[in-house]
Amino acid sequence: MVTTLTDSKRQAIAEKLAEMRAVQNLLIANEQKFIQECNDDELRDRFRHMLEDDQKNLGVLETTITQYGIQAKPDEIAHKMVQQIEEMMQGSELSFFKKVAQHELLKHMQVMSGLLIHKAAQKVGADVEAAIAPLNTVNFENRAHQEQLKGVMELLGVYELTGLQADQGLWARVQDAVAALTGVAGSVITQSSDKSDMNIQDVIRMDHQKVNVLFMEIQKSDDPQKIQEYFGQLYMDLSAHSEAEEQVVYPAVRPFYGEGDTQELYDEQAQMKVMLDQIKALSPAAPEFKQQVKQLMEMVMDHVRQEESTMFAAIRNNCSSEQSEQLATQFKEAKKQFQTQMMA
Ligand SMILES: [Fe+2]
Ligand SMILES: [Fe+2]
Repeated sequence: MVTTLTDSKRQAIAEKLAEMRAVQNLLIANEQKFIQECNDDELRDRFRHMLEDDQKNLGVLETTITQYGIQAKPDEIAHKMVQQIEEMMQGSELSFFKKVAQHELLKHMQVMSGLLIHKAAQKVGADVEAAIAPLNTVNFENRAHQEQLKGVMELLGVYELTGLQADQGLWARVQDAVAALTGVAGSVITQSSDKSDMNIQDVIRMDHQKVNVLFMEIQKSDDPQKIQEYFGQLYMDLSAHSEAEEQVVYPAVRPFYGEGDTQELYDEQAQMKVMLDQIKALSPAAPEFKQQVKQLMEMVMDHVRQEESTMFAAIRNNCSSEQSEQLATQFKEAKKQFQTQMMA
């Protein structure tokens, strides 16, 4: 038995995450249209806030998917469904009320997908739970949006059915529901809000921590199946991480971190890749499997220590926070590209 890189459970979660990204894009497109089509100031404002949240949450979703480490496409049925709803929303058959009702259903789907991914992650492993933690923000805000949309639907529905305005008090109740939910969700949202202002040290450290979790899980486990799954993820995470460092970070730090130290990091990663492939060729049940993983872990931990001490210090001393944030964006993009290629 040779280690395969993805197991079906991880792949299924990756597809669900991809579905969430597709639905999130559709939510954004809908809200942009609602803002154009709506002639009520209060409703338009409500959609505008929702759009801001949803655009930010698309960024959070992107970061989560890259951190999760597997780029996938939504399954065929989800893909078709998103397309069909998209066409319906663009067409003129549905009334504004019916479009908003459809939008609320999409929000519901998004909430359920988020919850489902959390439950599934608890079954699959600690590394998955760590990677998807930022989804909490998206889930809480989608729940809040759903409450708001129910209120909006009542307003629009009463008017569509009777031609009369709904009770004045209704809008106030919507606002109350929003405030109550934001109170509950507030702390979670600020805790893990938009990750776009992370600097390169934060992003690299996050990867190192995830790799550390995977090493620990392999050491702890006696189940060859589990070991194979964890190693497959470790292989992909270390490959994507080191590739992005070599493309983005090492060339950027070389002028001030020094030729010798930078070259050392390149050399260690070359050695790491050889070790990864050697282990990949072994059976996870073989006695030397864990031994070799342990050697790899020691090597990687040593490498990580160098990056987080002297390389990070050099970055702090030589890069502005804007430069460091820009490196983070490029680093995430390079990882995403590499992950996409790996899946092709
Ligand atoms: Fe590295
Ligand atoms: Fe690193």
